[in-house]
Amino acid sequence: MRFGALFAVLIAALCYSVVPGGAQGRGQQPVNLPDGPGKELVSTACATCHGLNMIANSQGNSRENWEALMASMIALPADQKAQISGYLAQHFPVKPNAIKPVLVNGPVNMRVREWDVPTLASRPHDAHAGRDGSIWWTGQFTMRLGRVDPKTGAIREFPTGKATPHGLDEDRDGNIWYTGININVIGKLDPRTGQYTEYPMPIPEARGPHTPIFDQKGILWFTLQSGHVGRLDPATGQVRIQKTPTDGTYPYGIQINSKGVPWYVDFRGPRIGSVDPVTMQITEYTLPNADARPRRIEITPDDVIWYTDFPRGYIGRFDPATKQTKEWLSPSGPQSAPYAIAAVGNVLYYNESGPRPNTLVRFDTRTEQFQSVIVPSGGIVLRHFMADANGNIVLACSGINKVGLLEISNSPRTQ
Ligand code: HEC
Repeated sequence: MRFGALFAVLIAALCYSVVPGGAQGRGQQPVNLPDGPGKELVSTACATCHGLNMIANSQGNSRENWEALMASMIALPADQKAQISGYLAQHFPVKPNAIKPVLVNGPVNMRVREWDVPTLASRPHDAHAGRDGSIWWTGQFTMRLGRVDPKTGAIREFPTGKATPHGLDEDRDGNIWYTGININVIGKLDPRTGQYTEYPMPIPEARGPHTPIFDQKGILWFTLQSGHVGRLDPATGQVRIQKTPTDGTYPYGIQINSKGVPWYVDFRGPRIGSVDPVTMQITEYTLPNADARPRRIEITPDDVIWYTDFPRGYIGRFDPATKQTKEWLSPSGPQSAPYAIAAVGNVLYYNESGPRPNTLVRFDTRTEQFQSVIVPSGGIVLRHFMADANGNIVLACSGINKVGLLEISNSPRTQ
């Protein structure tokens, strides 16, 4: 029960702070479940971590998909599972207005492999391609980091104390650094010992450390939900914080360009920003569409900025040299909710988190051609991912408690 109560608090807090606008409205208003066998079970088994409106507000599922979703959150005896999935499939089938993926054929082979995260309901938030070929993830809701070796399938999880790790990156020595978004720390895990060290924010205004990334000199940069960008020097442990020029911003995705300059996107306005790596002075650039809300960012080798415009369903290109912007509607349309994005040379891969199942989309920036495949498990929102050394993409499927690998072959040499 204590476990469940903790989750309820966590999810309420995260919905408040992380999910902007009315995308989910998950949580608290009471839900009257329709009568029928299974109602009692659902009311008890499914309400310990979150409100029942998580079910009512979902896009609905087939029986098979309810079973898979349930199995990612709670272990139940077979008879209870059958009763719950039967009840849910009958009363909460796929809604007529659920967004369907629009798939595009193309020249490349894209294959997705997935692994279950051992601890249920971990909500693996971000994925990181380890230098040794492993796939790391942040198990945000169960306060741990995890690592799987895709060759052997060997998996290990590492507790992070009271911190709910949100984003992660790796230093040259193989330590994993993560943002402890709930307790305002940056954490450093030594995977050899399982020991972690925490670096608190130096000022109380700096809250919600969000996404971290190392620059070429080994400095860790990170965005904060409180409208700041931070910088941590691992050599001294010193943390510096810079507020964005505009008030009320939400710096979200962050990447470093080839010159060592951090760029971030503002998920609360039509804005992207760059940070002077020495003075930390921030320069903001306004995107042409006032409704743009760029969520994640990637930078191609030509130092051009790419972003996913989550609420509008676009991917965008911003060229810092010319200040010109160009946008493309994602294949599944305005409600495709493009989210995680990563580049392999001049080719982008990103997640459409709106359709069920989610898709992985390839966008060749030279030919401007799309290609896409579904995420076999459904994905249920891929929030941040990256390319590994082989040009494949490591994945974390937050809502279905899996991590994965998008393997790409026969890629035309456009790089
Ligand atoms: C141990 C905690 C826990 C239990 C028990 C639990 N859930 Fe969840 N549930 C989660 C977490 C964590 C998420 C992910 C929240 C997020 O990504 O925002 C989630 C998400 C969901 C979602 C949203 C998925 C989507 O489409 O975005 C649905 C629907 C859901 N749960 C249904 C259920 C049902 C049905 C049960 C009972 C069989 C259940 N949950 C029991 C933790 C739990």
